Amino acid sequence: MKNLLDSFEEYLLNNLPNSKSFHPYFEEALSEMLKAGGKRFRPMLLLSVVKSNKSLLLSNSMAVALGLEFLHTYSLIHDDLPSMDNADLRRGFQTLHKKYDEVTAILVGDALNTEAFNLVANASLHNDIKVELIKCLATNGGINGMIIGQAIDCFFENQKLELNQLEYLHIHKTAKLIAASLKMGAIISEYDISTQNRLYDFGIDLGLLFQIQDDIIDETCTSLEAGKTTQNDGAKNSFVNLLGLEGARKSADELSLKCINTLNTFESNLKNSLEELLLKYINRHK
Ligand code: IPE
Ligand code: IPE
Ligand code: MG
Ligand code: MG
Ligand code: MG
Repeated sequence: MKNLLDSFEEYLLNNLPNSKSFHPYFEEALSEMLKAGGKRFRPMLLLSVVKSNKSLLLSNSMAVALGLEFLHTYSLIHDDLPSMDNADLRRGFQTLHKKYDEVTAILVGDALNTEAFNLVANASLHNDIKVELIKCLATNGGINGMIIGQAIDCFFENQKLELNQLEYLHIHKTAKLIAASLKMGAIISEYDISTQNRLYDFGIDLGLLFQIQDDIIDETCTSLEAGKTTQNDGAKNSFVNLLGLEGARKSADELSLKCINTLNTFESNLKNSLEELLLKYINRHK
């Protein structure tokens, strides 16, 4: 049997945006960052939760997992723009605004954002489930989620935030979409509300850990190793800048322990399914 990640990659390649106009390169640019790769962390979180108790729904969940990846990929394309983080390299390739132009990068991001919701709306799942999924994605990816995190991240460059503000920033910028990925899996699988909430809260810790690790990567890896522009957080309220490299590593250690402990409180199917995926990530900072 093919593993989940391979199945997702195959689904992605078969479901890239397929519009064709007389624009000389827009459609090519639209698929480029999706094809470029990436860890597919968010779709895999969703699919791992579905796999834990409703594996028959896995194939109908692929569209939703792809929606998450579209929204995440849009956020990266915009994150790299000159007015945001101004980065030249992403997923091992030139960023879209470098290779093409800024207009293309902005509009590809816009298109992937809209299309994310279209994918969810068209999934072969019950309508009431899809409404919940759309609400969850919009709430966590939108105004009170990733967007406000990104706005604060960029506005407060070169201004040191307090530790609680730093958490607020990173919970919104990164952790909420990661938490939403788990919760969306739980919505599809029809886990009870309490399990949905426990998964969401676990996702916030996991998302914070993921961003601390990302900040450590920015500090310690070359662009070649990371496949994206690094040493790029100089002006940012990154965990490394606020806590120092050792402080950030220590925070990551503490959070990864907390995540493992929480994981152990989940029922065995859920624990096993997530553990398989998370062992790859939980000590990424080491
Ligand atoms: C990078 O996300 C941006 C953050 C929120 C830290 P990923 O590290 O998941 O990027 P890809 O999808 O693997 O390229
Ligand atoms: C970006 O965080 C988070 C997003 C919402 C895209 P970063 O700016 O640290 O992500 P990288 O390091 O460029 O991938
Ligand atoms: Mg950024
Ligand atoms: Mg960035
Ligand atoms: Mg980063």
